[in-house]
Amino acid sequence: MKSPPRRGAPEASREPAVGAAPRYHIETWGCQMNVHDSEKLASGLERDGYVRAEGVADADVVLLNTCAIREKAEEKVFSALGRLRGWKDAVPGRVLGVCGCVAQQSGPAIFRRAPHVDLVVGPRAASSIPGAVRSARGSGAPARFLDLEQRTDSLSFPFDEIRREGLGSGKAFVTIIEGCNHRCTYCVVPRTRGAEICRPMTDVLAEVRSLAGSGIVEVEFLGQTVNAYRDAEGHPLGDLLRSAAEVPGIARLRFTTSHPAQMTDRLMDAMRDARPTVCPYLHLPVQSGSSTVLRTMRRGYDREGYLAKIDGLRRRIPVMSFGTDVIVGFPTETEADFQETDRLLDEVGFDVVYSFAYSERAGTRAVELGDTVETRVKFARLARVQEHQIAIQERRNREWIGRTVPILIEGPSQRGDSQWTGRTAENRIVHFPGPDRAGRILDVRVTDATALSLRGERIGSHA
Ligand code: 5AD
Ligand code: SF4
Repeated sequence: MKSPPRRGAPEASREPAVGAAPRYHIETWGCQMNVHDSEKLASGLERDGYVRAEGVADADVVLLNTCAIREKAEEKVFSALGRLRGWKDAVPGRVLGVCGCVAQQSGPAIFRRAPHVDLVVGPRAASSIPGAVRSARGSGAPARFLDLEQRTDSLSFPFDEIRREGLGSGKAFVTIIEGCNHRCTYCVVPRTRGAEICRPMTDVLAEVRSLAGSGIVEVEFLGQTVNAYRDAEGHPLGDLLRSAAEVPGIARLRFTTSHPAQMTDRLMDAMRDARPTVCPYLHLPVQSGSSTVLRTMRRGYDREGYLAKIDGLRRRIPVMSFGTDVIVGFPTETEADFQETDRLLDEVGFDVVYSFAYSERAGTRAVELGDTVETRVKFARLARVQEHQIAIQERRNREWIGRTVPILIEGPSQRGDSQWTGRTAENRIVHFPGPDRAGRILDVRVTDATALSLRGERIGSHA
């Protein structure tokens, strides 16, 4: 039971009336996996009678679902915790939890650095959150609940109970594999998310059918190494794509994130066979264009190997678009290594590149190499990659002018004008004159393009 509102407390006026449902607020950082895990965290609390708060101020429980991939991401979590101190102390019984990769990475050290935190729960132990929140709610002092066990909670969460943010937009995420068996020398993920574990294909298909039944037209399969998927019966991702493409109502299938070393011919064949439902866009992180650096990163492929995968896909699906991740300033990276990465951007002609300055992470193998590239050099390389990619993107986007493309409508544009936004199967953002209805597919003719998006006019709608 909720305690009665305390008169005179700084935020007393925001306290819900006695008997009102307690409220939660979740802040999410990082990848789509985390975004989807937050949907499950919310569902677990709602099952317990919680309702979503407007924000931190009116919440009884605040959970931070965190990312540990780079130092900056982790620092953001600790500064958010600092800001939450006042919120936590203002009303006894409020609960503050840290979930996700920082929870796993830093563990009990979080209680030392931020003593007002009640719960620290790793990304594979999320099922213990509702119970932990329940017992923490009554206590005045921080509850200090810790669960870093690497279970399969996120895969076994009952899918029909997930509170999905995107229902109105016609899109949904479906986790199919959790964890990572690679050992890239810069990366914390194998530590934070544990070893790979796959969901049975029958389970995944049941979820896809249920989503189609509630109006979802686009499904994105998720996993840190999604193309490593192979269930206990031996079904690889290709089988899943073929079967999911048959589900009535599902117009688009995507999957992320793929590892180049596991982009097999069989999977490429399946992508071709399951067209047009499988979208002609793939996020395929290369990390570096230098074979020497790739070896030091232990990526399991070299420059030629990566280009062969791109080529294999373009031969099967000529309209393929690609996105990638690049790390600059990895230890030992020379100017010549960097130039190979820079040249690769032109060779592939990526449609989007997420580039990062190398950030040394405790507990990873690369720590032994030292952080050899000067910060100034790292950031200069980062700026060069970004500038170069903008030019490539603008050129590639302009090639779309004059074509008619189907887009899945996402909603009103963030820019606050009368424009609406949708996405092509190739994952390009298109702005077009609204209003319209999110979640349906509309044909637009592309009239203009910038490096970041296309502009279109409406032609007609499918369904
Ligand atoms: N430093 C910088 N970037 C990193 N990434 C992963 N680990 C690090 C690190 N230590 C990048 C990779 C990965 C993306 C999600 O984050 O490019 O694909
Ligand atoms: Fe961040 Fe990677 Fe963990 Fe996702 S998997 S939350 S990007 S560290």
